[in-house]
Amino acid sequence: MEELEDKVKQLGNSLPKESWVGAFPLILYQELWLPSRALKATILFQTQFEAYDTDIILASLPKTGTTWLKSLLYTIVNRNIYSDFTKHPLHTENAHKLVHHFEYTIYDNNSDGTQPNLAKLSPPRLFATHIPYLSLPKSIRSSKSRIIYVCRNPLDTFISSWHFYSQIDLYKGKGYELDHNMIEKHFGMFCEGKFPFGPYDDHVLGFWKESVQNPNKVLFLEYEGLKEDPKAHVKKMAEFAGYPFSEEEENKGIIDDIIKLCSLESLKEMEVNKKGNYFGYFENKNLFRKGQVGDWTNYLSPSLVKSFDQN
Ligand code: A3P
Repeated sequence: MEELEDKVKQLGNSLPKESWVGAFPLILYQELWLPSRALKATILFQTQFEAYDTDIILASLPKTGTTWLKSLLYTIVNRNIYSDFTKHPLHTENAHKLVHHFEYTIYDNNSDGTQPNLAKLSPPRLFATHIPYLSLPKSIRSSKSRIIYVCRNPLDTFISSWHFYSQIDLYKGKGYELDHNMIEKHFGMFCEGKFPFGPYDDHVLGFWKESVQNPNKVLFLEYEGLKEDPKAHVKKMAEFAGYPFSEEEENKGIIDDIIKLCSLESLKEMEVNKKGNYFGYFENKNLFRKGQVGDWTNYLSPSLVKSFDQN
């Protein structure tokens, strides 16, 4: 395992680097701007993970609705085990602790580098990743495991990312002010694909193409669509995951209850999400901001957006 550590260190030294908002270190690995700390975990994920046909994987770029989708998927799939929503695990655990993230928790907490005992998780195993489709382990792509992908308007994704990473204080005492010059600089980086798990187009297109060619493999969702018609989307997710709602459940209003439990307002108010952190240094409370479609118009000038369009 020391050998792997050395290899990752050497690789890390040789790859191009950047800093995202909040001095968040990035490294260019396989044409993907990875958070530097995720390099080793990503390599382990790519080389060691064996998918089961029953696995369901939630894929996304950061800040596109991952927490929301994790909450919905977990609640849909486990609704017979946790049917009393007043005592639901979402009240006591952040969604990121209920749905395991490959490159941030599963292969990152694993300090001795051996494969974690994923076999202990009962099927269907729910996982999440920010890794693009073509960089996923072969066994995910070749198995019958299913992927639910969520994408979001790039401008709103950028603004959400800008706020979120501004709140990380990686270097103690060095908080970041949201000043306009910095937003321009980082918007330029975003357009060049230099942000966590960028570039944007490659990420979205990889999953989109697969969803068109193989609709049983990838369900492609849009954050904006979920906001507009959550009921239709929750039904679609449940069917795709193999847990469709019965007529009786629908009549009882279970879909509405799930939507309510997993709403931004509900999750934001849960004590577990007001304190604590996940993946080591991200604060739970920063996961829930406005959830507004088109929030970018409050921050980006038309000339900046034009520069995005020309990219
Ligand atoms: P904003 O910063 O635009 O408000 P991720 O979970 O991938 O990190 O995405 C975070 C974004 O999703 C944030 O967007 C956050 O407010 C929004 N969000 C979090 N929980 C949500 C929910 N239950 N419903 C809708 N949006 C949610």
